[in-house]
Amino acid sequence: MRHLIDFGDLTRQEWDELYARADRIIDAPEKFIDTCRGRVMASLFYEPSTRTNFSFQTAMLRLGGSVFGFADPRSSSVAKGETLKDTIKMVSGYADVIVMRTPWEGAARAASLYSDVPVVNAGDGGHMHPTQTTADLTTITRLRGSVDGLSVGLCGDLKYGRTVHSLIKALAKFRDIRFFLIAPRDLAIPDYLRQFMRENGMPFVEVTGLEPVIPQLDVLYMTRIQRERFVDPLEYERNKGIYILTRSKLARARENLLVMHPLPRVDEIAVDVDDDPRAVYFQQARFGMFARMALLSDLANQPRKRPDPVEIGREPLCHNPNCITRTERYLPPLVKYNGGVKCCAFCDAQL
Ligand code: NCD
Repeated sequence: MRHLIDFGDLTRQEWDELYARADRIIDAPEKFIDTCRGRVMASLFYEPSTRTNFSFQTAMLRLGGSVFGFADPRSSSVAKGETLKDTIKMVSGYADVIVMRTPWEGAARAASLYSDVPVVNAGDGGHMHPTQTTADLTTITRLRGSVDGLSVGLCGDLKYGRTVHSLIKALAKFRDIRFFLIAPRDLAIPDYLRQFMRENGMPFVEVTGLEPVIPQLDVLYMTRIQRERFVDPLEYERNKGIYILTRSKLARARENLLVMHPLPRVDEIAVDVDDDPRAVYFQQARFGMFARMALLSDLANQPRKRPDPVEIGREPLCHNPNCITRTERYLPPLVKYNGGVKCCAFCDAQL
């Protein structure tokens, strides 16, 4: 693995090796304090973040490395109109690994075309968030022993929730998982992912009600309605507060259910759930730091490599208004096929 842009970039074997390392780090973090000694991580956050930003920074510090970057793009040259390409060319000259979060879908893929060092996607708009998935899978594996064979409920904003998109990509690599996709019709998963699940033989049902399915679940993954991604504010108003998990709703749930959430939560999990032993979301955030340590100990230690030149784009092919190709016009016109359907290679939108 050279970059981590989409969880689909990882093979099952690469994930198993990454998890094995995360597992060793959790058991004895002190053995890894020099793993990234002398290495430098760039942290480019064009969008708000608490956990992802802090967990990447603390991960690098705990490995003996150092960190620079911005958490507010107004303090960087982006504010002067610099292209993403130029920012990445510069930063990849200063750093050994680049971690980036943006509101634009496909931005991390775009950055990887121009970077001499590995690029990690820490969230690209409503598209993907693969390192959250490393936190999620580490949590499930540590607490349940294995990911195979579980019934997984994904609840909330499945349309804009990038953590769910990445998790679905990842769970294709495991066996016998049954999915309950719990969302209002407005916020159902994007078509390309429905295609992906069918293509990969992942059995799923789409439902709108949470309570009836709770008793069947091994994992309940709650998500926030992604207010900042709505094009139509009325659509947000219609859907906010639609799912609220309370302690009383957990009465019929399995004893060993894992209630997960990438956080931040708004109101979708009531505070009275926090002390239920099945609520593991704060643990999940801590496991995320260890999973990121495992990832950085590999990526920050890779040799620099100049990327091959790419074609210069003229007109964007993609119509998704949030796609990085809409604003960074020089990007090459790359396509890919999801279940035989022609899609944008940056944001996965159908062309
Ligand atoms: C998520 C994100 O940023 O996509 N948070 C996170 O990284 N832990 C989820 C969210 O913002 O709702």
